[in-house]
Amino acid sequence: MDLITTRVGFVAVLLFQFCSLPSANLVFQVHHTFAGSKRPLTQFKAHDSGRHRRILSAVDLPLGGDGSPTSAALYFTKIQIGTPPKDYHVQVDTGSDLLWINCAGCEKCPKKSDLGISLALYNPEASSSAKTVNCDQDICTSTLSDPSNDCKAGMYCSYAVKYGDGSSTAGYFVRDNVQLDRVSGNLQTTFINGSIAFGCGSQQSGELGSSQQALDGILGFGQANSSMLSQLASANKVKKIFSHCLDGSQGGGIFAIGEVVQPTVQTTPMIPEAHYNVELKDIEVGGEVLQLPTDIFDVGEKRGTIIDSGTTLTYLPDLVYKQVIEKIDAAQPTIKSHIVEQQFTCYKYSGNVDEGFPIIKFHFENSLTLKVYPHQYFFEVQDDDWCVGFQDSDLQSQGGKEITLLGDLVLSDKLVTYDLEKKTIGWVEYNCSSSIKVKDEESGKQYMMGAHNLSPAGRHATTSTGILFFILAFVISLY
Ligand SMILES: *[C@@H]1O[C@H](CO)[C@@H](O)[C@H](O)[C@H]1NC(C)=O
Ligand SMILES: *[C@@H]1O[C@H](CO)[C@@H](O)[C@H](O)[C@H]1NC(C)=O
Ligand SMILES: *[C@@H]1O[C@H](CO)[C@@H](O)[C@H](O)[C@H]1NC(C)=O
Repeated sequence: MDLITTRVGFVAVLLFQFCSLPSANLVFQVHHTFAGSKRPLTQFKAHDSGRHRRILSAVDLPLGGDGSPTSAALYFTKIQIGTPPKDYHVQVDTGSDLLWINCAGCEKCPKKSDLGISLALYNPEASSSAKTVNCDQDICTSTLSDPSNDCKAGMYCSYAVKYGDGSSTAGYFVRDNVQLDRVSGNLQTTFINGSIAFGCGSQQSGELGSSQQALDGILGFGQANSSMLSQLASANKVKKIFSHCLDGSQGGGIFAIGEVVQPTVQTTPMIPEAHYNVELKDIEVGGEVLQLPTDIFDVGEKRGTIIDSGTTLTYLPDLVYKQVIEKIDAAQPTIKSHIVEQQFTCYKYSGNVDEGFPIIKFHFENSLTLKVYPHQYFFEVQDDDWCVGFQDSDLQSQGGKEITLLGDLVLSDKLVTYDLEKKTIGWVEYNCSSSIKVKDEESGKQYMMGAHNLSPAGRHATTSTGILFFILAFVISLY
């Protein structure tokens, strides 16, 4: 998801009678949404605090969901939080920085989900490891875009986040234990345990309150210090590297924290920006390079192209969008396109879309190419009715900047690696139902890590139009 705004502030409001809590730790549990495999109950002694040893585990985050705008339209994972640990299903989102979970007592939190998972509210009072986070603590002050003087002793650290689709969440920070699956052998995991601060969501609005794609929260994989990845990395538990491989046809896939040694990916530099931005050079449709102004994808002034696993569709500047659609149109001169839900260009087509429509190639700095087949940019809304998963970002920008953003659909069926240490993003076409090899930094050993699909019934059948979901989850700005 692309976050529009994040606000961190201070609240004196005691949403929960935290003061009466003994010092409690909240534990995040990570569950396999995909596989439902049993984890060995071996307890991993993660912390050698005496020597501050770097453990740097590879972590397996089980994936569920899929990228189709007509079914789940999102990918999620299962984590375990608290003592005793409880399962929470959260959307994985490279477009935002914060982990937050719907909390007990929350207003307008969804009660049920059409994703086939049961929802859970996190209750800090029910976790013996939960702790409050006050506004003068580092996690709060470093997340603030504009640290003010409003913080007074004993006040909680509050936050508010607004995503690109207009939905929002607000609440306050808590600290608790999160439990994840450390890769400990070929297709084997044990627990890794870490203490992290995260958002306890008390108010949701927009799509986040609907039951259709409802989850317990969002796990932001952004670069900010507030992200779970940054917190685990600063506790020397993991390297700041993660990868995803979203299976576009089966749903589920692979989500790993740590170094992937197989397959190897070709990379492009990450542009220093709030999101994961890279430099798009040009676009080729069916072998023809689009004729565009040279500065259309310029990187200065907050441009560049956002890579966002939390957004379903791809957003292109008006001029680019029109040319892409024109070229797609030209491939089938006898079929007249129609518009669905005022925004999607669709075609009645009974053949194999890969044979009837052009391949689109996005070319990036350092000669990295993202090759997108027609079945990856089209989604079927009804039998033989195919819609293009691209949007004109001019129509979404509400007077703001025209963004270029690549979402789930075009990122699927590739292993995409975000290396925050080397400041690169890379990918390679890959079978996301197969396995990858990750490195355990402690032993130097390489282990196979398999795909998961936490979605109970696999991918849902295509639904009729009128229920197209799409998620635009990136934070637009801080306020
Ligand atoms: C984020 O963390 C790093 C390393 O701990 C630190 O150097 C940096 O100042 C922090 N950034 C912010 C904005 O607090
Ligand atoms: C997680 O770590 C804490 C502190 O190190 C420990 O007390 C707790 O038992 C661990 N939880 C699990 C489930 O391993
Ligand atoms: C992808 O890998 C899975 C598991 O190894 C295998 O069953 C499947 O046939 C592969 N798909 C393709 C297209 O090669």
